Order: sequence, then C-alpha cells, then structure tokens
Amino acid sequence: MTAGDAPGPPAGTFRDRLRAAFAHALRTLAADGVCAVAEADLPGLVDQVREAADAKFGDYSGTMAMGLAKAAGKKPRDLAVEIAKRLAVAPGYADTFAPPGDPVGPGFINVRIRDEALAAAVSAAFRDERLGVPRVADPETIVVDFSSPNVAKPMHVGHIRSTVIGDALARILGFRGHRVVTDNHLGDWGTQFGMIIWGWRRFGDEAAFAADPTAELGRIYRLVRRLADATPEALAADPELAALAEQHPGAAREVLLETAKLHEGDAENRSLWERFMPACLADIEKLYRRLDVRFDHWLGESFFQPFLGGVVDDLLGRGLARESRGAIGVFLGGDDAPPFLVRKADGAFLYATTDLATIRWRLEHWRPDRILYVVDHRQGQHFEQLFETAKRWGLPGIDRVQLVHVAFGTVLGDDGKPFKTRAGDTVGLESLLDEGVQRALALTAGDEGLEASERQRVAETVGIGAIKYADLCQNRTTDYVFSYDKMLELKGNTAAYMQYAVARVEGVLDKGGIDREALRRSAPAIQPADPKERALALEILRFGEVLEDVETDYRPNLLTAWLFDLAGCYSGFYDSLPILKAPEPERTSRLALCDLTGRVLRKGLELLGIGTVRSM
Ligand code: ARG
Repeated sequence: MTAGDAPGPPAGTFRDRLRAAFAHALRTLAADGVCAVAEADLPGLVDQVREAADAKFGDYSGTMAMGLAKAAGKKPRDLAVEIAKRLAVAPGYADTFAPPGDPVGPGFINVRIRDEALAAAVSAAFRDERLGVPRVADPETIVVDFSSPNVAKPMHVGHIRSTVIGDALARILGFRGHRVVTDNHLGDWGTQFGMIIWGWRRFGDEAAFAADPTAELGRIYRLVRRLADATPEALAADPELAALAEQHPGAAREVLLETAKLHEGDAENRSLWERFMPACLADIEKLYRRLDVRFDHWLGESFFQPFLGGVVDDLLGRGLARESRGAIGVFLGGDDAPPFLVRKADGAFLYATTDLATIRWRLEHWRPDRILYVVDHRQGQHFEQLFETAKRWGLPGIDRVQLVHVAFGTVLGDDGKPFKTRAGDTVGLESLLDEGVQRALALTAGDEGLEASERQRVAETVGIGAIKYADLCQNRTTDYVFSYDKMLELKGNTAAYMQYAVARVEGVLDKGGIDREALRRSAPAIQPADPKERALALEILRFGEVLEDVETDYRPNLLTAWLFDLAGCYSGFYDSLPILKAPEPERTSRLALCDLTGRVLRKGLELLGIGTVRSM
C-alpha cells in the first residue's frame, strides 16, 4: 500500500504480520523434516518474536531457535539459519520486511521493516481514526468487575487501585474492539449497615444528616466501629470511649443482630437502609465523576439477596455442598482444606454465596467470554475457591467463560507500611485527591498567564492524573510506595511528564500556526528518513502491539512504559531535527509526525483515564 491509497487500518500490526510469516517458516521447517514442530506449539513459538533488544540489529527479533534446537539435535545457530531461509520466502514477508541477515549471537533472527512499508504504515496511521491500531479478530464479551467498594464507609486509598486499574483495563479492552461490560459490585449489604443502623438509633443527629448525610453517616460509622472493636488498651487510653462502652456493653453483638434483622427483611431496618443508600451513593458518585470513571451497571450485593437461598439449595441438591457443624460449605480439597462456606450456622449467607449468585446471573444475562475481578491480592483464596466451585457447579456457559482474578498489591507509605495518615487512620480517597490537586496547583503558581479558574482546571487534571499514573505505572501485583513528590515530578515516568510532552507537541504546531484539520485532510505522505524520525514512527506503530500485551497479562504498566519510551523518541526527534524550518517535503512530513505523536500520546493517556492540558 502506498501513502496515497484509500485510508484503512493495516492488516494487523507489524508484529502480527511477522509472527504469521514465522509460523509459516516453522511449518515448512517441520514439513522439510529439519525439525519437528507441533501445531499446538506454534503460538508459543511465534510469541518469541518480539521487539529487538537493540535497534542496531533490527526492529524485531525471533529467538525460538534456541529453544527448538535441543530437541532437533542441532546447533541453535544452524537451526536459526534454516528458519531465516524459510522466513525470507514466507508469503507476504518480503512486502513488509527486509531479508533477514545472518542470525547473530546464539541464534537471534533479526528483522527490519522495509522503509517503504514503514512510511506507508505511519502515513496510514495518520489518516486512521484508530491511529493504526487494529481491532481484535475475535471480539469477546468481557465483564470487568472493579472498584466495588463497601459503601456506608468512606472510600479510602485502598479503593484507588481497583478503580484506576479496572477503569484502564475496561477502556483498553473496549478500544481493542471487545464488548466490555463494567459492573460496580458494591458491598451494600454488609455488617457496616448493622453498624450505622444501630448507631443511628443511639447517636444519630437528624439536623446533621439533613445538612451533610455522608458526613453524619461517616461519623456514626467511625464511632460504632471504635466501640465495637475496642480493645482493653484502647479503652484505657480513651476515657470518652470507655464511658460510651460502659453505656453500651453489648455493642458488638447488637450490631450483628441489626445486620441479621436487615437481612431477614425487618421493615424498619430495611427502610433505614433505603434511606441511607442514596446518601452513600451520592458520595461515591462524586468521586467517580472526579476520577472520570463510569460503570454500565451497579449490581451490588443487595441485588443478589433474593437468589442466595436458591444457590445454597442448588449446591446442596447437587451434592456439592454439605453441612459441617451447622454451617454449609463446599469442600473443595478434601476434609482438611478449608471449605468454601456459603451459609453460616446462624443461617446468614456470605460474601461467597453472593459471588456465586453473581456469576450465575452474569452468565445468564451477559453470556461473557471472560469475567475479570479487579480485587486486592489478599482475596486470592476467595477467588480460587469461587472459581473452582463455579466450575464444579456446572452452570450453563461456565465451560466457555474464563474467570480471572486481576490481583494487585497494597499502597504503602514512606515507612513501607500500608499508607495511613499521621494519626494512623486510613486515608480518605477524597482528601487524597484534594492534596494531589493542591500540590499540582502549587506547581502552576508561577504561571501568570493562566486565569485562576483555568489554573484550577489544569491542577485538577494534573493532580488526579498524577495519582492515577503513579498507580498504573507499577507492576500491579507488587506493593508500591505512595509519594506525592515523586508522582508530580516533571521528569521521569510520570503523568506530568507525559502531559508536558503533549503540550510540547502542541506548542510546535501552535508556533507554526498550523491548521491541524487542514493538515489532517491533506493526508500527507510521512517519510521517516532520518534514524530519529524512523525510531519515532516505529514506536508509534507499536501502539497496537502494546495494547495487545496489556490485554495478555492485564498489565496497564506496559502502556505507561511504552508512552514513556514514545515521549523519549519524540524528544530525540525534536532535539535533533528542524521541523518548522525544514524544507518541504520534510517540513510537512515532520509536522504530520508531530501531530500524530500528539494524538497517540493523548489517546494512550485517555486509555489510562488520564486527561491532558493545552499548556502547563
Ligand atoms: N466489596 C469488596 C471489598 O471491598 C470487593 C468486591 C469485589 N468483587 C467481587 N465480585 N467480589 O473487598
């Protein structure tokens, strides 16, 4: 395809095309009797075609010869020569890639994209709304269960990870062409309601509730929590609490009773629950608006209550669950392993029961191919047991759905312990965002050119972007140390640096008075001739590959790492080549490359849920 052809996304990424050619080469290798390659092993083998470690050698590199050589009884390098020979003549290869050179090292097959193919692809990406990112060949229906806080207590720093990672994954999977269903599985039926119902009757203040319902509920929640959990030491240290505890000696037990009454359908408790819920929801909705996070559904735990009895009966009827000391559980690993409890001895249902009912409902109504649970790694055992029970339950559709616990680590403070306020309380999500924005505001304080309201808007985007990005750029499975200072640095892999990179690209176009729409309509041919230009174009064209990799392991940090590299490639290009002062046709080609870089950076940030600003 040349730059002048009709617009349209290329057939897969470069990596897809190269992997297909490698697959062909490996099949012929087997057919020629050089080395046995099972069809089933092909995906794993072509997966070893990746970005070359060093651009000096090529753009991609295939490393499968090393693994295959042993079984074939050949030297890896000799086998690599055999593969490369067949690769060169694989259908479609030569249109896109230069002939592979001699394998290097122990048997790396390095491949370089032909300059014409690169130019055509980057010119097509410039014209493409999807920026050259192909859609998945087989779209799936993917449910993303994320955020899912327990309401009636204030959202805290622990909720940020599920919310931010889940939202980014939902956006990325959707952009890849999957049908994504997001569901906020609220904890809206738990013991915290027993606490506020009990506490409201004793300490509730109507006027305070009318003025600020969530503040009043939060006050009651914290008070009852301290009372119910009070240790002798805590009581000794706090005379006020001790006095309260004396007045309410049965608090802990009574709180549980209120929860049980709510669950049994007690009219008074139900009506209090109905009264409190809107206030709880308003509070978290406000946070989601600020975070720019949306859900298709809000099917919380309460929604599934009518089904729980039926779930337990069904599990009993199928002989999957049985009684043990009054409780009912599913015994998954013999009698010694802990059972998956679905009903307590007092008749109460559990988190597990709700999650089983939820799976059944989702399978029936959404027919998903995958369900992702973006939840703290400490719930690992719960999900293992849940998935195993669901499988044995044999629900319609369970055999084709993939259930995944997308686990993440803990947010830590400087001291390496879970992030807390100085007083030792958990950090509220709202105050966390406020502080991020305050600090971002301080950064822009010197910018006289910005109006106050505009400064506030910029600070909101930069401050919240910083918090999100700091989370997303971590390997999600490890803990990470929260630091406002680090996340707001203008250098390094931070949102501020990325947002600044976007503003810098825009600055070039502004300075030249470039009409972006006209530039885009003119669909110029981008000719990346200089190595710096070529490196930038190639990095842009990896966008689709990176998103594929994010999907494979549910790792948004691969996207942040790539964005950082892309910004680095842009700096290399910008620092070493004239743009506005270049002669034509280089000038237009480079301006188009700038514009494309800006659009790709913005899109990448958007897929992470991070906004950009015009100047900062
Ligand atoms: N509400 C739970 C919590 O805060 C998380 C729920 C996650 N989703 C689920 N389907 N279990 O720990």
